[in-house]
Amino acid sequence: MCGIVGYIGEKNCVNILVEGLKRLEYRGYDSSGIAVIYRNSLKIFKKAGKIIQMESSLPDNLNSKIGIAHTRWATHGEANDINAHPHLSQNNKFSIVHNGIIENYSVLKKKLEAEGYKFKTQTDSEVIAYLIEKNYKDDFEEAFYKALEKLEGAYGIVALCEDNPDFLMVARKGSPLILGVGNDEMFVASDVSAFLGHTKQVVYLDDYEITKIEKNNFKIKDFRLSDIARDVKLLDLDTSASDKGDYSHFMLKEIFEQPESIKRAFAGRLIENFGTAKLGGLNLTPQDLFQIERVGIYACGTSYHAGLVGSYILEELARISAYVEISSEARYKNPLIEKGTIFFAISQSGETADTLFAMREAQRKGAKVLGICNVVVSTIARESNGGVYVHSGPEIAVASTKAFTSQITVLFLYALLMGRMRDVSLQTGKKLINELKMLPEKIQTILNSVDKIDEIAVKYSKLNNYLFLGRGISYPVALEGALKLKEISYRHSEGIAAGEIKHGPIALVDEETPVIFIVPQDNTYDKTISNIEEVKARKGKIISVCFENDQKVKALSDDYIEIPETNSFLSPLLTVIPLQLFAYYTARALGCDIDKPRNLAKSVTVE
Ligand code: M6R
Repeated sequence: MCGIVGYIGEKNCVNILVEGLKRLEYRGYDSSGIAVIYRNSLKIFKKAGKIIQMESSLPDNLNSKIGIAHTRWATHGEANDINAHPHLSQNNKFSIVHNGIIENYSVLKKKLEAEGYKFKTQTDSEVIAYLIEKNYKDDFEEAFYKALEKLEGAYGIVALCEDNPDFLMVARKGSPLILGVGNDEMFVASDVSAFLGHTKQVVYLDDYEITKIEKNNFKIKDFRLSDIARDVKLLDLDTSASDKGDYSHFMLKEIFEQPESIKRAFAGRLIENFGTAKLGGLNLTPQDLFQIERVGIYACGTSYHAGLVGSYILEELARISAYVEISSEARYKNPLIEKGTIFFAISQSGETADTLFAMREAQRKGAKVLGICNVVVSTIARESNGGVYVHSGPEIAVASTKAFTSQITVLFLYALLMGRMRDVSLQTGKKLINELKMLPEKIQTILNSVDKIDEIAVKYSKLNNYLFLGRGISYPVALEGALKLKEISYRHSEGIAAGEIKHGPIALVDEETPVIFIVPQDNTYDKTISNIEEVKARKGKIISVCFENDQKVKALSDDYIEIPETNSFLSPLLTVIPLQLFAYYTARALGCDIDKPRNLAKSVTVE
């Protein structure tokens, strides 16, 4: 979603800002811009479209030691040059970039218009610059505070004043901002990747914090303007993961990383001789775990599908009741928080606004919420009451792949831990661990057959509607397969519980409809075969994902993709791989922008 970069220091910041924006491209955007102070005057350059279009509009001699920059993902007002950030105040003295949504912007705008201010854009953000101007009486800092007092909603804001080229003002409420501390230079960004090439010394800002940054100093205050002390942390990040290497797309690279990323998700977390797992980050004693009667899960999108898979494993393996809610639904329905329930907030980015707010709402009611996040020190990871990192490594493609399989791996470990405290025997625990350890190799076997998956995807790529069907633990995999396909190829696709098709969706089936069945040999196998027959009788094209020895399903299918056999609790970790590849090759055949699909953002930081 929108990205922010700011700089103050001794260098010419124009390239630093543009490069920083390029590092944030993966988040999704539809326009970009920068504002700098050049020869004592504020200059703004902004354009709809790709960053390169904005970059080519910059004068060659542009030079400045202070500036702010933004990639916008339109929410209020269409994606055009005018609505792009940075925004200017009416007197052209102040400029701001903003992530989030100002909920009371129309009331503020009307008031300002009544006072004679004339707005240029349709955005909610422009009012911020105007409010700073209105409150300015020779003190930019003071005017910034006063403007914030009027704002309702969520924001990460960086503001620049033409008359004060020595500092930037920053505020965070609901939208992440991080400072980067260099030598005689300071950065601010919505994501560390924007400045990682320059410094690894960072300061995480929390919500309700305001910061004044100078090239050698930063001062943090809370919203009551009391000073806050904050340490500078050294980031230990491998930046090589932000490189595509020999792969044509980040998505393909990330799919291929799964043998390793899954290994990292379980590495050091198995107690093999007890057939169980240890998850230190949960901060729960065996006695605490023993008290848990129910598990509630909040997540969105792909993370929600991982949560659904987790709920099947928790109920069947650990015999503990588990339910999953879409965060955007949970947060507004006055959730019931029952005693004995532990919650998980699952999020790759750790910044998804809906999940963050659902988590906060549950915490406010007294619940313990544990995070399952990928991005280290993200907001959900920091605000949760404990949790587990999935250690997938940076996921750059908008379509989430390796995070999904790592999230399931962590949920499996939690279910194993709980199961071993309940019904699961030592022998079963050990068997499951052995099976888990074999998965990286089995995933590699599937990855070795990409050519066949590519061929099948190309064969059907001219068709418009796809159905993904599975039962039991394969139902969330069907949902995930359909989500992957629609988000990167823009083909209509639906994930359906196979038993439900005769209750409506079978009406969609004709000879132009590829129906992808996920059929591992588990307790739903025979029932799924009946569903295949039903679809076949209506001339649907059957593509199945089945075990390699499954002659029955192969004979029923127009095309099949075989996967190695595994235990039913772990089958989603294999069945989803061909679906990720199927989506990838379909999108490639259709010439889509795979890593940055239209209208989508990598981390959804607004509701
Ligand atoms: O960062 P999160 O896991 O919280 O993100 C949740 C969804 O926005 C995300 O999974 C989205 O559905 C992906 N684009 C799916 O590929």
